[in-house]
Parts: sequence; structure tokens; C-alpha cells
Amino acid sequence: MANLLVTGGAGFIGVNLVRWWKERNPDDALTVLDSLTYAGNANSLDGLVGTEGFEFIHGDIRDTDMVTDIISDKGIDVLVHLAAESHVDRSIEGPDAFIDTNVVGTHSLLKAARKVWFTNDRWAPHRFHHVSTDEVYGSLAMDDPAFNEETPYAPNSPYSASKAGSDHLVRAYHHTFGMEVTTTNCSNNYGGYQFPEKLIPLVLINTLHGKPLPIYGDGMNVRDWLHVSDHCRGIELAIRKGDPGETYCIGGRNEAPNIEIVKMICRLLGERFAADPELSSRFPECPAASGRDNQELITYVKDRPGHDRRYAIDPTKASSELGYEPEMTFESGIANTIDWYLANEPWWKAVTDGSYRDWIDTNYGARQS
Ligand code: NAD
Ligand code: TYD
Repeated sequence: MANLLVTGGAGFIGVNLVRWWKERNPDDALTVLDSLTYAGNANSLDGLVGTEGFEFIHGDIRDTDMVTDIISDKGIDVLVHLAAESHVDRSIEGPDAFIDTNVVGTHSLLKAARKVWFTNDRWAPHRFHHVSTDEVYGSLAMDDPAFNEETPYAPNSPYSASKAGSDHLVRAYHHTFGMEVTTTNCSNNYGGYQFPEKLIPLVLINTLHGKPLPIYGDGMNVRDWLHVSDHCRGIELAIRKGDPGETYCIGGRNEAPNIEIVKMICRLLGERFAADPELSSRFPECPAASGRDNQELITYVKDRPGHDRRYAIDPTKASSELGYEPEMTFESGIANTIDWYLANEPWWKAVTDGSYRDWIDTNYGARQS
């Protein structure tokens, strides 16, 4: 039995990971630490809070003393670190929070973990798993080979630079102090519980409401899309089988230009409306509700400054050393995601109309923006 501390466990991947872990490892104890920024949603933990072996703590990873107490009091032996500022566009508007949380916050966790796990010149059994991104490797030309663990770091946005900084700190705590760390660098995730500022949920929800679908630049930027369940699979494998000090690239072998992804969602939603007349009464503003093509909503807008052209992951090392293989194709993953958003309208409605914040303020007190 393990005692896990999951930071950022009220965010998109964190929520999916704690659900994934609890289902497969019901005897493990899970503590979630999350400061509930705009991206953290305690509603996403419904059904877990209050159950045995699960605890939610509202707190900030930068509070080193508090983190030290949690690791010590709860006997945490596995720390899975996902807490972060995660949206590139926000990092362009205001980089400071990214440095504070992603760099300083990661160092705060490393300090706290070392303080508890390393006593009398000995390490207690432990694992520090750091969840990072492929964006630390920079941008690929169309004919470049995909990123792998040997690709030199070349982050381009304040977000990716702050994640690169956190990766280096994690590496240094292994190299210098002997902490048992693993890092996964993953490609773009999609799936249920994703905050609708990211491309796929934004396009889904805007289409349902007949709102414009903003395509940055020429829409030909390429991402390597991975369903979040396959990311969770990769994280669990890295924790269980990964060698301390190693990094693993996790991806879906599913590269596609943004415009193709958006057109596919438009088409699939159109097919859903054609097959289920109830959707037209639920979402009358969706073009498909009046027999029109959802693609009429596509709107090309000014490009993101410094927009990375292409990301792609070569997961050979994770595959050969961890036995990692993605199980979702993009077709099955996107169908599953559309089903999730159609079935969980109250979740995303509360996010888009802001009422999730009122609920959280009432239950957890004032929070940072
Ligand atoms: P998210 O923005 O949905 O969630 C981040 C969570 O961290 C939120 O719940 C937020 O409240 C919490 N948080 C932020 N600052 C905090 C602080 N100071 N103290 C405690 N909690 C804090 O992000 P996500 O998409 O779930 O990403 C999780 C991790 O995975 C991040 O580290 C991100 O860099 C990495 N990642 C994401 C993707 C992706 O496609 N989403 C891909 C690869 C890697
Ligand atoms: P995003 O989901 O923000 O992830 P990241 O920037 O970390 O890759 O964006 C995915 C791609 O979609 C990226 O190339 C930017 C583009 N994009 C748009 O074209 N329009 C949008 O409204 C958003 C949010 C993203």
C-alpha cells in the first residue's frame, strides 16, 4: 500500500489521475493538495471527497512548511507533482505566476520532500514523480524527427520555460542529493474535466452555443494529441517501473494540424445532432440544430506570439522500458470526450458561467485568481 500526495489534483489531469489511481489501487491512500486557482475545481472531485483513503487539502505548494507537515504526518512515500500554471496564452499575458508556481513551487516541494525523506544520512523509501510537458523541447519543423528524451531543451514560451526550469530542479535533486525522481514529458492532453480555455473543450462548447471557433494563424500548427487516460497510464507506469533519475516521453503518435482537429469536432457533433433530435432542443444555437454545417463558426484570428509550429513525441523509450502503449485512438478518444461533455453539461456550465467559483469560495474561502 502506498501513500500518495497528488499536487494539482483538482485540475484537469490531476482529477483524471486520482480517479484512475483509486480505481486500480483501491487500497492506496490519496491526498490531493491544490490551491484552487481558476483552473482548480473541487467539484471535479465529487464522489471522492469524504470517501475512505481520500483527502482533499486546500493549500499552496509554495508553503514549504505546510507541505513538509503533510508529507511527514501522512507518511507520504509517493509524491506526484501536477500543480502548475498550465496555459500558454496566460503565460504570455502574465508570466509571473508561472515562475512562482512552476519554478518556485516545484522547488518548495523538493525541499519539503527532502527534509522528510532524508534523515540521519539515509533516504526513506520514496518516489518524487514530476509531470511535465513536451513543450520544453521547443518547436519542430515539419520534417524534423519527433522529440525524444535526448532532444535538447529549447523552451519558447514563459510557460514552457518555467516547466523547463522545474524539470532541471527535479533532475538536480536527483543528481546532487540522490532523491529518487522520475519525470514524464507529455504531449497535448484532451478528455473530460478539461478547463474550456484549451483548444478541444473550447471548440466543443463554443460549437454547442453557436459561438466563433478561433483558429490562431493559419491553423496549420501541429500537436500530438493524447487522451488523458493514456497519460495517466504512462504516469503510473513511470512511477512503478521507471528508474530513478530517468525521464520518459509520453505521446499518442497522433499528430494533426489544429484546423483538422476543429473540423473533425464540427463534423462529429453534426453527426450527433443528426442522430439525436433532443440535442437540437438542448443546444438550439448550434448550427447543426438547424441543419447547417458547424464549420461556419470557424474564424481565423491573429496568431499567438511565438506560436510553436509543431510538437511530436517519440515514445519508444517509454514503450520499451515501461511497456507503455496508448490504448485510445484519436477517433475513440474524441468520441469519448464528446460523450463526456454532452453528459456533463452541469460541470462545464458552472465553469463557463463562473458559478463554480462561488461554490468554491463558500466551501473553501477566498482563493487566488
Ligand atoms: P490545470 O491548469 O488544469 O490544473 C492545474 C492545477 O494546479 C489546478 O487545479 C490548480 O488549482 C493547481 N495549482 C496551480 N497553482 C498551484 C499552487 N501554487 N499550489 C497548489 N495547486 C496549484 O493543468 P493540467 O492540464 O491538469 O496540467 C497538469 C500538469 O500536467 C501541469 O504540470 C502541466 O504542465 C502538465 N501537462 C499538461 C498537459 C496538457 O495538455 N494539459 C500536457 C503535458 C503536461
Ligand atoms: P492549447 O490547447 O492552448 O495547448 P498548447 O498551446 O499548450 O499546445 O492549444 C493547442 C493548439 O491550438 C495551439 O497550437 C494553439 C491553438 N489554439 C487555437 O488555434 N485557438 C484557440 O482558441 C486555442 C485555445 C488554441
